[in-house]
Amino acid sequence: TSRRPLVAGNWKMNGSAALAASLSQAVRAAAPAQVEVLLCPPFPYLAQVQAALVGSGVQLGAQDLAVAQDGAFTGEVSGAMLRDVGCGYVLVGHSERRTLYGETDAVVAEKFAAAQAQGLRPILCVGETLDEHEAGEAEAVVRRQLDAVLNKVGIAAFADAVVAYEPVWAIGTGLTATPAQAQTLHAVIRAHLADQDASVAAAVRLLYGGSVKADNAASLLAEKDIDGGLIGGASLDADSFLAICQAAK
Ligand code: G3H
Repeated sequence: TSRRPLVAGNWKMNGSAALAASLSQAVRAAAPAQVEVLLCPPFPYLAQVQAALVGSGVQLGAQDLAVAQDGAFTGEVSGAMLRDVGCGYVLVGHSERRTLYGETDAVVAEKFAAAQAQGLRPILCVGETLDEHEAGEAEAVVRRQLDAVLNKVGIAAFADAVVAYEPVWAIGTGLTATPAQAQTLHAVIRAHLADQDASVAAAVRLLYGGSVKADNAASLLAEKDIDGGLIGGASLDADSFLAICQAAK
């Protein structure tokens, strides 16, 4: 199966209208056509970035969504609203949502289902913390996180989803998993999905995230089960982000 590489820039809570304008312009001008490139700015800049990307192949995504579709949920943003402003993707269960905002496996599963119900492709983020890593629990944690979603939506839902493996100890720390470490966990994820449906597992794109930079991207992306990257810090610099996109070709 040939899987089209996907490189997603998660700006997290960074930037400004000015940075959103310059980054979107730079990325649309130089994104390689062979790679699906996705920008995930903060909510207030989504419409602006969408306007800047119109007519380019560069995709728009959000960093989170509400479980509910609409109603009295002050401060929340629904999947339908994200669709309405042009998002095609949404991150679900990013480790910062899990650890800082208390998103449980059950909430993450609800958000995955809500995203698909609203016509968005979820990018399900999984990965172990440093303690779990040191305790040798990485594989079990990732399987548990996948099962929470699989038990709710079923394997067929993964035909139109993406999974990002992000070891929490590698996020924003400058510590990257080695290509071999990352590949091992990506293979675990693909095998776990293949237990339920081999063809869905063969087609699903798996992204690595955690201190991906221009100078380590090529070696990570060369691994056979790593189909792209979820880029935090390096996505805020156009040259770095575009170099990572090039490495994914
Ligand atoms: O969503 C992106 C990841 O959390 C990775 O962030 O590249 O800054 O380590 P980072």
